[in-house]
Amino acid sequence: MTGTPLSAADRVILDNVKKARPSLWCNPAYAPARDDDAQAGLQEAVANWQMLTPLLKALFPELEITNGTIASELIEVDGLRAPLGYQDPAFGRLFVKADHALPVAGSVKARGGIFEVLMTAVNEARTSGFLSPSAPITELTSDAAHAFFSERTIAVGSTGNLGLSVGIAARTLGYNAVVHMSSDAKKWKIDRLRRFGVKVKQHRGDYNLAVAAARDAARKDPMVYFVDDEDSELLFTGYSAGALELASQLIEAGINIGPDRPLFLYLPCGIGGAPGGIAYGARGVFGANVHCFFAEPVQSPSALLQMMHGPQSPRSVYEFDLTNKTEADGMAVATMSHLVARQMADRLAGVYTVGDDDLMRLVALAYGEANLKLEPSATIGFAGPHFMLETREGQAFCDRHLSAKAMENAIHVVWTTGGSFVPELQFQTFVDKGNALPLPLDLKKEQ
Ligand SMILES: Cc1ncc(COP(=O)(O)O)c(C=O)c1O
Repeated sequence: MTGTPLSAADRVILDNVKKARPSLWCNPAYAPARDDDAQAGLQEAVANWQMLTPLLKALFPELEITNGTIASELIEVDGLRAPLGYQDPAFGRLFVKADHALPVAGSVKARGGIFEVLMTAVNEARTSGFLSPSAPITELTSDAAHAFFSERTIAVGSTGNLGLSVGIAARTLGYNAVVHMSSDAKKWKIDRLRRFGVKVKQHRGDYNLAVAAARDAARKDPMVYFVDDEDSELLFTGYSAGALELASQLIEAGINIGPDRPLFLYLPCGIGGAPGGIAYGARGVFGANVHCFFAEPVQSPSALLQMMHGPQSPRSVYEFDLTNKTEADGMAVATMSHLVARQMADRLAGVYTVGDDDLMRLVALAYGEANLKLEPSATIGFAGPHFMLETREGQAFCDRHLSAKAMENAIHVVWTTGGSFVPELQFQTFVDKGNALPLPLDLKKEQ
């Protein structure tokens, strides 16, 4: 295997990761700094979202109250501190960025998927001459536009949530939509897609295989546009704007992020597009004062393995004898996006992993104590403060990058990425499973 030679400390962490034990890896190449490129990228993303606003409002009546924006709440969750063992003032303040309740698609994927579909619709309509440069963008909701889009198809590979976001947006405009799904896709997600008139092709293999199959099928037909979750700049850009939304919410709450009040973001990671885009945008707004950690299931630590070995040579979790099996279906990904790995080389603070039983405990806890309806993937951020404050690696990170008093003032934001659309029966199964497992979390016992 080629790539960056591992340090002795990384070899110890790798050993734990291979045993599927919860682990924190901090990126030795991480360089917290002002980031002009990310700032420029974020500004462009926000400008494009603003351009799309009238179309969003016209397409989705549920966006009337948010004036055509896809936005989620920022919620302080004091009630979860004691059950999580974070009541000590040393843990700073704990917030949830509630993307599990995002309108239209019910997951963080609304930010990326809807953005890419709408941007594509505008581009296709403009380049074909259907939409003149001076025409209002809302013309894309007319019957003629519907007929124009119905001759075209949008395809995507997905474990579920991206498919929902892309599929719903595409069908609402009038496109045909095809979602290639992995064998672990949840039945309710497939059923929901079919109700929207999306064609679902289920593959026997994992998520990366479903994406490859979708890419292959799309290549053969010029009328098919393929949303490439492994390599999409548009998805990445769409997600990034969430960081500016968070920045205005923090300001509204009277919280000024700075060297003495650092911001920690805990971002669930599958292929890496959603957490990567958000982390990129966050660097653009908060510069050196934000520290972004990706979080993955113990059996699917594709980003941890890729980033640890350096972004140059592809790594798969199967190489390390891990199964890639997890209830956190959005994160069952064997190899991460190379586009994201490159973008994150010195921007990502680190990656940690959590076991499935803990994700179930967290589903039950978040529901019981804070009335949050989360799917297992979306809970993984709650482990973040534990890794920062209660592990050797976390302590070393803080000693290296933060001033002595900063942690007490830290703002920990758990990005909850999906769950509000999970059918009640399925959700209750998660809650029952979680309630049947005694606390504390397994990861607390590992230390
Ligand atoms: C609920 C949820 N969280 C997190 C993710 C991870 O996003 P990405 O695959 O872009 O890393 C997904 C992906 O589908 C998801 O469905």
